[in-house]
Amino acid sequence: MLWNDAYSTGHPKIDRQHKQLFETVEELLVSDATCEDKDIITNTLLFLMGYAMNHFYTEEDIMRKCEFSQYAEHKEKHDKFIDAVAGLVKEYNTTDLASLDTPLREFVIAWLRDHVTGDDKVMAEEYLEWKKINNGDSN
Ligand SMILES: [Fe+2]
Ligand SMILES: [Fe+2]
Repeated sequence: MLWNDAYSTGHPKIDRQHKQLFETVEELLVSDATCEDKDIITNTLLFLMGYAMNHFYTEEDIMRKCEFSQYAEHKEKHDKFIDAVAGLVKEYNTTDLASLDTPLREFVIAWLRDHVTGDDKVMAEEYLEWKKINNGDSN
């Protein structure tokens, strides 16, 4: 999946991090991880683990700052994402990599479609409204 400006939340730091995720997912999608090159699955899982910690920290900080009305639901989705990645890592250690390829692709595509370009936009919209009123900084 390629980044499109329509996916922008309007928050520069969140968008930078989202673009990074799109790039990583695109590398996975264009690869043929079921054949010889298994590194792509390893790299994607490693990236997702680090990314989730860092990116969710950024978003949850912003949500707390503006007292986002859907904080609990949004955070729950982040927590579920972390659990799902942990589940994939566990499978990675116990099954052959080829069988992980399709679930991983489906998982990241669904996340981009439902959360990044859906829930995150709702959150950023409320934050930007809050910022307008409170003149907070955009980091
Ligand atoms: Fe996000
Ligand atoms: Fe989020």
